[in-house]
Amino acid sequence: MTPRFRTLLGLAVLPLLMAPSSAGAQEMRGGNLGFKSGEATFQRVCQGCHMPDAKGAVGAGAYPALAGDKRLETAGYPVLVVTRGQKDMPAFGHYMSDQQIADVINYVRSHFGNHYTDAVTPAEIEQARPDQTAAAPKTVEHQ
Ligand code: HEC
Repeated sequence: MTPRFRTLLGLAVLPLLMAPSSAGAQEMRGGNLGFKSGEATFQRVCQGCHMPDAKGAVGAGAYPALAGDKRLETAGYPVLVVTRGQKDMPAFGHYMSDQQIADVINYVRSHFGNHYTDAVTPAEIEQARPDQTAAAPKTVEHQ
């Protein structure tokens, strides 16, 4: 390949690299951690605290095991913890879409010795978002 041809090729590829991600605003709702599968999200986001084998860790903080975790049986529990956060567990509802949160919860609930097959849906994540509660009738404070 001649240097000149390589330059032309580079120029042709550049706009593709600079084009905004094809992921739409809808998919990115709540943030920009754009990992595509529950497994990828677990590896990039969750295992830093919960460890690659999901067995948790005790060190600077206490990170509970998600492996063989009976508390994952009721899907509503991880839905709330991951979406809204709980104590030292960050609220990922700010950073991930409904689909991404559902995917990573379904991944964890069906791996690491967990066999819960009732998948959670993106709609359940949306319901768990704090702004959904805010939509409830408001009390008037200043009268
Ligand atoms: C910054 C560290 C950190 C990261 C990153 C993190 N967690 Fe957690 N997680 C925690 C801590 C700490 C707790 C314990 C919270 C408490 O004390 O109630 C927890 C608790 C949980 C629980 C409840 C477990 C139980 O048995 O009560 C679930 C489910 C969970 N995390 C899932 C996830 C998922 C899924 C991700 C990735 C999207 C993730 N966590 C990322 C720190 C983290």
